[in-house]
Amino acid sequence: MSLTAFGRYPQLRPRRLRQTPALRRLFAESRLHPSQLVLPLFARPGSKIRKPIPSMPGAFQLSPDEVVREAAKAASAGVTSVLLFGIPRRKDLTASEAYAGNGIVQQTVRLLKKELPGLVVMTDVCLCEYMSHGHCGVVRKTARAGTRILNDPTLKLLARTAASHAEAGADLVAPSDMMDGRVGAIRRELDARGFEDTPILAYAAKYASAFYGPFREAAESTPQFGDRRSYQMDAANAEEALREVALDIEEGADAVMVKPALAYLDILHRVKSTFGYPTAAYAVSAEYSMVKAAAARGWVDERGVTMESLLSMRRAGADIIITYAAVDAARWMAEA
Ligand code: PBG
Repeated sequence: MSLTAFGRYPQLRPRRLRQTPALRRLFAESRLHPSQLVLPLFARPGSKIRKPIPSMPGAFQLSPDEVVREAAKAASAGVTSVLLFGIPRRKDLTASEAYAGNGIVQQTVRLLKKELPGLVVMTDVCLCEYMSHGHCGVVRKTARAGTRILNDPTLKLLARTAASHAEAGADLVAPSDMMDGRVGAIRRELDARGFEDTPILAYAAKYASAFYGPFREAAESTPQFGDRRSYQMDAANAEEALREVALDIEEGADAVMVKPALAYLDILHRVKSTFGYPTAAYAVSAEYSMVKAAAARGWVDERGVTMESLLSMRRAGADIIITYAAVDAARWMAEA
């Protein structure tokens, strides 16, 4: 509450009221808690590997043992959920490492569930990190039509990937590919294989965004040709986002995501107020990198900008926030 009496009651003269920090906290309409944050982690094969990601200071490609260390550190700061991405040893034209029983994500999930059983382990379900061409689906090249992403053949591979994550012990799967019908396909496959109780968090409103730049370096998933505009959304559209979310919910999504976050707070707000579903905001790589870069030059206050941005996502309607700054933010929350 703004502790200033005016507005609805014009007979009251504006009056400044006492605002101690505790009083302000008591009346805050939105708040942040470490348990609402999800830390994305990049897993790669090997052991004792911590390879810095140049465009994302503080983020690393980690071997599974190091993923466990990083997740344990996050958990001790109160961040009890992680979202796993994999960088496979080998990429090919069928993304075979995406659904391999002993793939990098599957291995890492098993290790995490063994070492940190209380941790919520989410997995990103997509093919782009595993395809040699870097697209999120199966590609066909024809002389007449050029390159096309084939929707339906992709669904089978995505469903297999999601089931293999569930099999390894993932608590939740999060398809990020934006193919049509993937939530339904994944739901059916999970149910058929005995994972009826594994929830799906759908990247429902995912925009074709320049804010993913640093991630593509981190995950080594930059498309080798073309772009993702044939399957990701146009920044000009909001109604389309609502239709995408509605479809994903009809197909069985248990929670929905808006991505990126800061440039799409209006979408976040509309999605939450229209559907009232558990809603996630993904503060994507460039949102993180821009703050890091400006803070390194002393141009912005990293803590202030980060916390204000996260709070704006909560205010807009996010129940949970996926952010590379999760651990720092949790520490700042503890100090506040
Ligand atoms: C995979 C995927 C992407 C991100 C999450 N999952 C990249 C993309 O669509 O190119 C972006 C995350 C980020 O920028 O932090 N499809």
